[in-house]
Amino acid sequence: MGLFGMHSYMVHVEIDISGGLPHFDIVGLPNTSVSEAKERVRSAIKNSGLTFPVSRITVNLAPADTKKEGTVYDLPMLIAVLVASHQIHSVPETAAFIGELSLGGELRRVNGALPMVIEAYNNGITDVFVPEENAYECSVVEGIHVYPVKNIKQIVSHLEGKEKILPALYTPKEEVLETLLDFADVKGQFEAKRAIEIAAAGGHNILLIGPPGSGKSMLAKRISTILPDMTFEESLETTKIYSISGKLSKDTPLITKRPFRSPHHTVSPVGLSGGGAIPKPGEISLAHNGVLFLDELPEFARTTMEIMRQPIEDGVISISRAQATVTYPCSVMLVCAMNPCPCGYYGHPTRECTCPRGSAERYLSKVSGPLLDRVDIHIEVPPVDFESLSDDERGEKSADIKKRVNKARLIQQKRLEGTGISCNAHMTASQTREFCKLTDDAKDMLKVVFDRLSLSARAYDKILRVARTIADLEASETVNEEHVAEAVQYRSLDRKFWGK
Ligand SMILES: Nc1ncnc2c1ncn2[C@@H]1O[C@H](COP(=O)(O)OP(=O)(O)OP(=O)(O)O)[C@@H](O)[C@H]1O
Ligand SMILES: [Mg+2]
Ligand SMILES: [Zn+2]
Repeated sequence: MGLFGMHSYMVHVEIDISGGLPHFDIVGLPNTSVSEAKERVRSAIKNSGLTFPVSRITVNLAPADTKKEGTVYDLPMLIAVLVASHQIHSVPETAAFIGELSLGGELRRVNGALPMVIEAYNNGITDVFVPEENAYECSVVEGIHVYPVKNIKQIVSHLEGKEKILPALYTPKEEVLETLLDFADVKGQFEAKRAIEIAAAGGHNILLIGPPGSGKSMLAKRISTILPDMTFEESLETTKIYSISGKLSKDTPLITKRPFRSPHHTVSPVGLSGGGAIPKPGEISLAHNGVLFLDELPEFARTTMEIMRQPIEDGVISISRAQATVTYPCSVMLVCAMNPCPCGYYGHPTRECTCPRGSAERYLSKVSGPLLDRVDIHIEVPPVDFESLSDDERGEKSADIKKRVNKARLIQQKRLEGTGISCNAHMTASQTREFCKLTDDAKDMLKVVFDRLSLSARAYDKILRVARTIADLEASETVNEEHVAEAVQYRSLDRKFWGK
């Protein structure tokens, strides 16, 4: 099995053994890795008490024209040598092999085993042999036997019918450790919490803006506790990315909780978008089907924000390499937090902003307009008042908010079935018009608001999408005046801070 980006494919190992001077050749692999692979295969065979044939051996990895990288071909090549030299009698047509060898004949874990096993299954493979450490991760794929292999002796014994390896069994673990964060800890801030609930329900990008210490980071960090449950397809997609990145832990073979990634503002372009010799997914893809949180947004370099613009819009990111381009999905909910100015008190109800004139404007303009344009909901997080802070009563628990979010998301999934998207935020302009039918009153109201605030067409779509989500939270089929009125509120910061 091979892997390039998210794309896996079958690789066939062909082998020819003939008389003549002893020689071992591999074709179909990039030159740089051939010599090392040869050495591993040869040593692993010898150190497992088997014989490396003294003949002329040529191994071909087909198809020759696909790019092959990494060390996953070690095991299939070794098996081919053993079959050709009659040390293994036969291998079923429907078996596949993945794994890197140590010189001593042990199997080492590889990255990206899960997407390869899925592809194997799609190609009619019934038995796949993987390094023991990868087995549990791959066992989530149903309908295929995943055999955990420790070393060469063990797999030879299995294939020879002597001592069988037991296939790995997937046993989903109950989530034992409840997360420690909860919205109940956040006092007051009802409007911010409401906006976050809407954002989570519809998958809308959201920006929190407010003075220092008002609780922006605190709120944002709790978003993952109310995100809607993942569908199985979403879980599998996100898990593939973590598999490729080598970030799957042994205990969680299948990611069932939406990821929450918060890269620091010093993150490098490669760290964010992905890259490297063997292109790996970056933060933006690791957040796939979850949240990408950018705290202190204006601190991010302009170039960094520019890199994110297109992927955030498209839900996929392409990484260009010298020879080829890989594409990773990055369907994320973007959450940004920021102060309105360097001192943080611009627009504050009681405190004076101490920044020199013009610096607040400069600060705000650091946030790239096109990025801002992709944010559906803007919310001001005001300083918490003393009364709320000293109130002993705990707020609503995350678990209760999440129930509402889940309900609203299910309604969207049903409505959008067959469109390839599953939440309101991802509706195209035409889908927005189709699915956000306004009542007559709502239409009239929106028209008045529009003329008065001179909003753009883009703002119009955003208001419709957010209004749709607000209606879904109430399980209302139609979008009415109240829904629109609330959605309009979430655009007001454009004017307050950006003068739009
Ligand atoms: N609404 C609140 N309820 C309870 N505690 C709060 C609330 N708001 C703020 N705090 C307390 O204040 C601390 C600072 O909040 P937080 O770091 O979220 O502020 P911030 O808005 O991100 O500020 P900055 O702009 O400086 O990053 C929190 O860790 C928390 O202890
Ligand atoms: Mg903060
Ligand atoms: Zn200021």
